[in-house]
Amino acid sequence: MNLQSAINLDDMRELARRSLPRIAFDFIDGGVDDELCLKRNREAFAQHRIVPRYLRDVSHRDQRVTLLGREYASPIGISPTGLAGLWRPDADLMQAAAARDANVPFLLSSAGNASLEDVMAVAPEHTWFQMYCTTDEKINADLVRRATQAQVGVLVVSVDVPVNSNRERNKRNGFSRPFRMTPAVVLEALGHPAWVLRYLRTGGIPMMRTWKPYAPDGADAAQVADMYGTLTPAPMVNWDHLRRIRDAWKGPLVIKGLLHPDDAREAVSLGANALVVSNHGGRQLDVAPSPLEMLPAIHAAVGDQVELLLDSGVRRGSDVVIARCLGARACIFGRPSLYAVAAAGQAGVARVLQLMRNEIDMVLAQMGCGEFDRLNRSYLWDRDTALPHPASSTCETSVRPFVRTGSV
Ligand SMILES: Cc1cc2nc3c(=O)[nH]c(=O)nc-3n(C[C@H](O)[C@H](O)[C@H](O)COP(=O)(O)O)c2cc1C
Repeated sequence: MNLQSAINLDDMRELARRSLPRIAFDFIDGGVDDELCLKRNREAFAQHRIVPRYLRDVSHRDQRVTLLGREYASPIGISPTGLAGLWRPDADLMQAAAARDANVPFLLSSAGNASLEDVMAVAPEHTWFQMYCTTDEKINADLVRRATQAQVGVLVVSVDVPVNSNRERNKRNGFSRPFRMTPAVVLEALGHPAWVLRYLRTGGIPMMRTWKPYAPDGADAAQVADMYGTLTPAPMVNWDHLRRIRDAWKGPLVIKGLLHPDDAREAVSLGANALVVSNHGGRQLDVAPSPLEMLPAIHAAVGDQVELLLDSGVRRGSDVVIARCLGARACIFGRPSLYAVAAAGQAGVARVLQLMRNEIDMVLAQMGCGEFDRLNRSYLWDRDTALPHPASSTCETSVRPFVRTGSV
């Protein structure tokens, strides 16, 4: 199989499995504990049925969506993922460029390898910057300052990593921080020579460039990663930290990683403009519900006050449509973009985005609804009544449009 014969996101995963050393593929692919949450994320979508409608003119179909005051071509985006440069050098820049070309958002992880400033040079209109609060308040404030200075459009604060989680594949494979090539890892990696060559040619462990300014002069990549590991996770982080960020950041603020409706209410009351309902792709708490399971309750709690996005397990265009029917404006995904960039660079990411776009388009036609933005729950089958949901139980969001203020 090659890139052109990869016809869906699972094929992209298979391409990545072949391209990457096992230790790397498992780092991306794996979840926490028994990986039940990982499976649940997919199963939750399979619980839903879309009831098709025919004999409506669907020759014109439109999947544009407005998020935080800006229009994007499709209701999809790329979730933030750290360490991407380990799977392919410049992976962050490649993902940013593919997102820019497809006119969808790219959420740059502060734990990525390209710096915020470098990614902004590639995709100034499409980059959202994601940060975790660290143990060092000065660094937190400085990250917000840099985002402001670089004129980032959207700031995302992820809140679902209070501690490192039990990722057993990493333990079994000996993936440790910082990443070190042990003889066993080297031996297995030799079965993936293209990856090894790229790794060696670019000097081994990639630098976490956003963090370099906070490390002592001359620190190498491993030392910067070590320093990052002392700053995060930060278990003391609480709502006060978020309030300080809200005060300092004048642009749209997204909080990523909430699942409880009360947390969603709290986030809205402190001034968040959007939430990413997410369980971190099943990587944090194995007994957590899938975001799709919590979406109706979160939508009921805050759906008229804030824009909702969803990630974790999104692999099909129909998943994005189902999430829209339940109240999410858009979906983002992490692993598929990483599989794609690892296997085929920017072209791989472009293909993932195009495949998703095509699938959404086909589902819209089957639903007899040409406009993604007009989807609502009445397109879904109600298991209890064996009928479509009544039209009154819509999820059409009447969210106050986000109004940009100041220069951001
Ligand atoms: C390898 C990897 C690294 C990740 N790093 C981050 C990160 O730095 N910041 C963050 O907010 N989420 C991170 N996530 C979670 C993703 O943003 C996203 O929530 C998750 O991948 C969604 O699930 P999916 O992979 O099933 O689409 C990471 C996920 C993966 C797979």
